[in-house]
Amino acid sequence: MIVVRKASSDDIPRVFEIEIEVTPNPWKEHYFAAEIGNPLSFFYVAEERETNDIAGYIVFWLIDDLMELHNIAVASQFQRKGVANALMEFMIQVASECDIQEIFLEVRASNAPAIFLYEKFGFIFNGVRKNYYSKPREDALLYRRSPI
Ligand SMILES: CC(C)(COP(=O)(O)OP(=O)(O)OC[C@H]1O[C@@H](n2cnc3c(N)ncnc32)[C@H](O)[C@@H]1OP(=O)(O)O)[C@@H](O)C(=O)NCCC(=O)NCCS
Repeated sequence: MIVVRKASSDDIPRVFEIEIEVTPNPWKEHYFAAEIGNPLSFFYVAEERETNDIAGYIVFWLIDDLMELHNIAVASQFQRKGVANALMEFMIQVASECDIQEIFLEVRASNAPAIFLYEKFGFIFNGVRKNYYSKPREDALLYRRSPI
């Protein structure tokens, strides 16, 4: 069973391990530490209750009446088991409790699993940022969900 809970600094080594495993141009470890001290940021992990292993994580920011998804990832051994679903449901629950009007995110144009995930959650294509990503260089697709 997966439980979504607030991240602590003790979680960062495992979170960083997952980040390196599944993302092409990973965040640096200290970025995650900065999220813990950032009052705008919600940094949560999905923990497997039986083993206490961290299966994945999400980072989103709340800025006035907007939300921005900054990172979501799931360790490969836990993928396709509904972990990202649980993390996205959590974010949308927070958005709805905080009376948020819009959620924004961006995704690599080639990242089909993430695009399917966001479209499943009602995000609508909202434009392109050419060559936005590096390593490899790639366009960002912008997505938006509104109303929540
Ligand atoms: C994208 C990612 C977070 C999905 O995590 P996950 O836990 O495997 O996803 P879930 O099992 O909860 O699946 C939820 C939905 O996502 C979509 N999805 C996830 N993986 C998919 C795949 N390989 N192919 C197609 N759709 C996929 C589906 O819509 C799925 O719904 P369904 O099961 O009803 O079909 C995961 O693949 C990942 O960590 N990728 C690397 C990091 C990344 O790209 N993050 C996004 C950056 S913008």
